[in-house]
Amino acid sequence: MATVKAGRNKTIDTPLSEGQIYLDRCIAVTQRQVDLGGVLDKTVIGDMLDVCSLLPPKSIDLIIADPPYNLTKSFNGTTFTKKKEADYEEYTRQWLSAIKPLLKDDASIYVCCDWETSLIVGKVLSEFFYVRNRITWQREKGRGAKANWKNGMEDIWFATNSNNYRFNLDAVKIRKKVIAPYRIDGKPKDWAETKNGNYRDTCPSNFWDDITIPFWSMAENTAHPTQKSEKLIAKIMLASSSKGDVVLDPFLGSGTTSVVAKKLNRHYIGIEIEAQYCVWAEQRLEMAESNPDIQGYVDGVFWERNSLSEQNASSSGAKNTKSLKECKRKTKKQPSITEPENTQKTLFDF
Ligand SMILES: C[S@@+](CC[C@H](N)C(=O)[O-])C[C@H]1O[C@@H](n2cnc3c(N)ncnc32)[C@H](O)[C@@H]1O
Repeated sequence: MATVKAGRNKTIDTPLSEGQIYLDRCIAVTQRQVDLGGVLDKTVIGDMLDVCSLLPPKSIDLIIADPPYNLTKSFNGTTFTKKKEADYEEYTRQWLSAIKPLLKDDASIYVCCDWETSLIVGKVLSEFFYVRNRITWQREKGRGAKANWKNGMEDIWFATNSNNYRFNLDAVKIRKKVIAPYRIDGKPKDWAETKNGNYRDTCPSNFWDDITIPFWSMAENTAHPTQKSEKLIAKIMLASSSKGDVVLDPFLGSGTTSVVAKKLNRHYIGIEIEAQYCVWAEQRLEMAESNPDIQGYVDGVFWERNSLSEQNASSSGAKNTKSLKECKRKTKKQPSITEPENTQKTLFDF
């Protein structure tokens, strides 16, 4: 039986013994798949190394991977033990070799890690892909350290399979309150006046400070020990995929990638080795049918932390939002999404 929770505690912790209905929706993949028909929009229970070897080549548009970091951690009783650097490097090489053939030529991949694991992941990733960026996510929660700086960040590496890839900049703008409302000829420059305040939709940088980890009072929260928030995954997915694309998460955990894909009208395939986590993933996928909201992403823009009242005011005043969306810098061009070999992309910002 699940333990009794406080009234506002929404944590999903359905035990395996009560989750048969969800488990029945998951599949095992034991035979080579000629196409994605049998695995699309499914949670696959199994070892990602085995499953990926059976999926069709060049079929995936985006991979979001959140593998166990090089820390000793228990996932539902299965302990991942901290490895020597060379061994974690080999582990990373092994799973990247398994997913590489699955990606389409214009596909992207994102890999999450902590600062220490990041030193290894970035290096190995560059053996397989074009590394584009290293995003640093300011992760508020963390244990204090007595003789070191408390860890308050994680890295997310962004890489592509070729120099031909998509990046949907307009889909990932951040709505910020205007502190210094600069005007030209009395008119707002690159911002909009609304009845709820003055706002600007800004280009996102590789430093993400607007995302919390899931808390127990959030509908998306589960008892998974390292769950990512839907807002974080939504940013990645909106930037690097389009509606109808296929997104693969080879280390699905509590199902965040699949849930966000469903909410954003992408196809998903999630692979997870622990049946318990597959239950929570399927339970969340069911919940997404009646609640497609992604906390912090409202009216097609991402909002800063602690702006819930403004988000609510905005979604009830769609007219104001429209004027903001039209507020774009006219003088600078959007970056092209296909670039020549060996050049770096420069994004504009304001
Ligand atoms: C860091 S967690 C991912 C958390 C996930 N992003 C979420 O939001 O819940 C890594 C997950 O990978 C799973 N895992 C570890 N090795 C695996 C393997 N070889 N195949 C499939 N899943 C694996 C673990 O059980 C764990 O749930």
